[in-house]
Amino acid sequence: MDERILELYPSPGRHHELKGLYLEQLAGARPAGEGPFIYSNFISSLDGRIALPAPGRNSHRVPPAIANPRDWRLFQELAAQADLLISSARYFRQAEDDEAQAELPLGSSAEFDDLRQWRSDRGLPPQPDIAVFSASLDIPPEALRRYPDRRIIILSGATADARRIEAIENNSHARVVRCGEGRRVDGSQLRDTLRALGYRLVYAIAGPAVLHSLLEGDALDRLYHTTAHCLLGGERFDTFVSGRELQPARCLPLQAMYLDRAAPRGAGQTLAVYGNEASR
Ligand SMILES: NC(=O)c1ccc[n+]([C@@H]2O[C@H](COP(=O)([O-])OP(=O)(O)OC[C@H]3O[C@@H](n4cnc5c(N)ncnc54)[C@H](OP(=O)(O)O)[C@@H]3O)[C@@H](O)[C@H]2O)c1
Repeated sequence: MDERILELYPSPGRHHELKGLYLEQLAGARPAGEGPFIYSNFISSLDGRIALPAPGRNSHRVPPAIANPRDWRLFQELAAQADLLISSARYFRQAEDDEAQAELPLGSSAEFDDLRQWRSDRGLPPQPDIAVFSASLDIPPEALRRYPDRRIIILSGATADARRIEAIENNSHARVVRCGEGRRVDGSQLRDTLRALGYRLVYAIAGPAVLHSLLEGDALDRLYHTTAHCLLGGERFDTFVSGRELQPARCLPLQAMYLDRAAPRGAGQTLAVYGNEASR
């Protein structure tokens, strides 16, 4: 089988190697206004599932039927370009229970050596910093200490529990930053908060609640979406966005689309890039 990626839009018929397809994607990225450029990435099934319950566990995970190394490579290429990753408290709670699916990017395995080199060639720190969205501040310090070489900021609301802030800051190198008037992070304050911290390219790798907060606050510039051509069913599942209905709906015109016939085996996947940049 031809393992190259077939471009469907905007230049149908061109072929690309998988490796490098998403590298350099953010070189000319310009945010909607002041502040950093914020992008996110999901893989879903045709029926819109991003996660299903993991057998014998409390948590959900990306279904093995759709998770695949080719999409994972692209996920890592997007991370290689970031100054900051946005993750969630849930990830760190699961990491402490050994239920998190993978270490935060960049992955340490040899297959991503070229991405670490790519950062080094551009004078970037070896790894992006980490931001963690949390209202509860229920985050095990041990899980934060797994990333001793990376700056970690916990984003929470102004009414965050002072004792929990103290516990986190006394027991890890993470620092809590207020971004919102209530308990939760207010997406509409995110760009200003991250700009004040000096960030330019921010990659949100959390899940549906964080994405909802970004959309509500007009803090998403680009969405990468891999659709694995499989139907999964299941009644308890996560999809991209959870939270109250977005009024008005957020519209993200298609910027590019590719076909990867090589994975998942027997199905293939489409790789889409959505954003409003063309209209700016
Ligand atoms: N297929 C994919 O591409 C993909 C991508 C990402 C995630 N997933 C899956 O989706 C599932 C859910 O992921 P997730 O739980 O990390 O995602 P999430 O629903 O975005 O994050 C949940 C946690 O983030 C915090 N949070 C979210 N919005 C917040 C806000 N506005 N202010 C403060 N805190 C906020 C909360 O922490 P506190 O509880 O501490 O307040 C909450 O528990 C997982 O199974 C994951 O594997 C799949």
